[in-house]
Amino acid sequence: MTKHSVTQLLEDDEPLLGRPTPRAQRHRAKPHVPKVKRSEILAAIVERGQTARPNSLILSPTLDATSQESGWISEHLEVFAQTRTLTAVLRRVKGGKEANVYCCAAHPNSGLALIAAKLYRPRLLRNLRNDARYRQGRPILSGDGQAIGASNWRMHKAIAQKSNTGLAAIQTSWIEYEYQTMLRLHAAGVDVPRPLKHGENTILMEYIGDAVMPAPPLSHIALNPAEAPRLFGRMLDNIEAMLAAQVVHGDLSAYNVLYWQGRLSIIDFPQVVDPRTNPDAFAIFRRDVERICQYFERLGVDSQPGRLARDLWHKHVQPAQYGA
Ligand SMILES: Nc1ncnc2c1ncn2[C@@H]1O[C@H](COP(=O)(O)OP(=O)(O)O)[C@@H](O)[C@H]1O
Ligand SMILES: [Mg+2]
Repeated sequence: MTKHSVTQLLEDDEPLLGRPTPRAQRHRAKPHVPKVKRSEILAAIVERGQTARPNSLILSPTLDATSQESGWISEHLEVFAQTRTLTAVLRRVKGGKEANVYCCAAHPNSGLALIAAKLYRPRLLRNLRNDARYRQGRPILSGDGQAIGASNWRMHKAIAQKSNTGLAAIQTSWIEYEYQTMLRLHAAGVDVPRPLKHGENTILMEYIGDAVMPAPPLSHIALNPAEAPRLFGRMLDNIEAMLAAQVVHGDLSAYNVLYWQGRLSIIDFPQVVDPRTNPDAFAIFRRDVERICQYFERLGVDSQPGRLARDLWHKHVQPAQYGA
């Protein structure tokens, strides 16, 4: 930062936005405040985050959140400031039907500069995906990542009846699957953001992008066709490594693959399917492969998605299991 200290920037809105004060406007005076670029503000907040008191979560002015959203963010992310993982929430990367994703400044303890926080909406405010197809053959996981055993018949009854307790358990399981799958795939060398921590409604992971711009999904960029064959090959390696780890993504498409500086990161795993136990697993897998092939076909890469899917399935999934 040049002339302004970080504290000044955070406390005074006008310099932050680089706009003249109302009085300055009245007198048509030249604004006396030097313009500060958005990138500089964000860099300053990251920098301040590195020295902030350990247990205070900063909500950056660049976040532009309603008071309801701010309350929601604080309720779920404050704990990660107290445990010295995050220091500040810098911007909303995306608001969706089910979750918002925020770009956060990391605490120096984490060894990262930025962290992505995926914050699921409170159950009653979000549309549960039609998840029955994906839940077939997979146990319900509780908050410790363990399957809820058959002896817990009360919980199984609540889930079957979709009572409040049952719906809460389904949501917990949904988030557990996302987090546990990311842990497994990251350990297996698949291109996924590194998962860091999770809570009741939250997953923290490596942020892909920089303080100015998040990595866009493939669906949002005009990929250079010259890069397409290499990236398609990389995508197939990832799909194969996932299947070898007995994971079918279940919602794989150009919307859930981020692109940053020539590299891909696969995201959004709550609906994952186990090829060994879900009777629809092969159909879901083939659809994932087809969507990726369609994207690269438009860039001139030839493929035979049906054959590819069948070959990978036969290589990695036991013939006796649900399949092609
Ligand atoms: N680790 C990350 N780094 C940067 N941006 C991310 C990250 N994870 C998610 N995003 C952004 O948030 C968006 C939504 O995330 P996603 O997990 O796909 O949730 P949804 O269920 O809302 O589709 C993504 O399209 C991407 O723009
Ligand atoms: Mg998504």
